[in-house]
Amino acid sequence: MKQEMMTIVRQQELAPRIYELVLAGELVKEMAMPGQFLHIRVPRSDLLLRRPISINQYDSEKGTCTIIYRVEGDGTKYFSEMAVGMKLDVMGPLGHGFEINDLNAGDTAFVVGGGIGVPPLYQLSKELTAKGVRVIHFLGFGTQEVVYFAEEFQELGETRFSTDDGTFGIQGNVGNLLLSEEDQPDAVFACGNNGLLKTVEQLYSEVENVQLSLESRMACGMGACYACVCHVPEDENKSVKVCEDGPVFKAGEVIF
Ligand code: FAD
Ligand code: FES
Repeated sequence: MKQEMMTIVRQQELAPRIYELVLAGELVKEMAMPGQFLHIRVPRSDLLLRRPISINQYDSEKGTCTIIYRVEGDGTKYFSEMAVGMKLDVMGPLGHGFEINDLNAGDTAFVVGGGIGVPPLYQLSKELTAKGVRVIHFLGFGTQEVVYFAEEFQELGETRFSTDDGTFGIQGNVGNLLLSEEDQPDAVFACGNNGLLKTVEQLYSEVENVQLSLESRMACGMGACYACVCHVPEDENKSVKVCEDGPVFKAGEVIF
């Protein structure tokens, strides 16, 4: 983990309120696992807490990494107004991401994401396909207007879409997509809201390798403040920290 003033080299709006931001810096050299996140200080003195945002992809040769974020409140609004050449105080990469060592060429992986849970799945899918794993993406969005990275995922493998209003892909949610799928996965990776993660956990209870990326309110982002604890099923006195032990956990490992 490093802390660095990274330079904004690109910023563009992909869809209403959804931005892609490319950062350059030495910190990219530390990135080695899909599903980790950056903890970014908002350059506004009244906003004390850093904002956790997943790493969407990184390019070690160019020394750049990309985040995709949705404007929610003051912090992400501030990010969206920053221009190329400005700098952001970034800590990272943080957390424990997706484990892909157990997968081999020819295996099938289901990659499942909803809304703003989709970004970290892109680097994951790139690394899986580079290993020769067959990847099938199941991506859910609210409506066609807020769909992003559709082509990028389609270039990596089969991609099925759902939208709440049926304007892109099938009408419904990712659970509906998964229920109509005939293929069987060797592993399932998911990132999205708790409803989506619970659906994945239930539908694939027979699959040994199911990994879920959880979202939690965070303060320090590095295991010191206990703002992000989750309990574990077998012992009510035991807890894990989403920022340090996660955000990716094996299905059944934590209560969420
Ligand atoms: P405000 O609502 O003003 O934020 C107030 C406070 O609440 C801040 O401290 C903020 O960090 C915290 N907060 C608000 N919403 C969330 C949330 N959903 N999760 C955690 N903390 C929150 N969003 C993206 O758009 N793209 C991503 O790739 C992404 N990756 C994430 C990865 C992790 C591990 C986590 C925990 C969250 C991720 N989020 C992502 C959610 C993102 O952190 C929040 O949307 C963002 O912090 C909101 O900040 P704000 O100042 O705009 O909103
Ligand atoms: Fe401080 Fe996780 S955010 S321990």
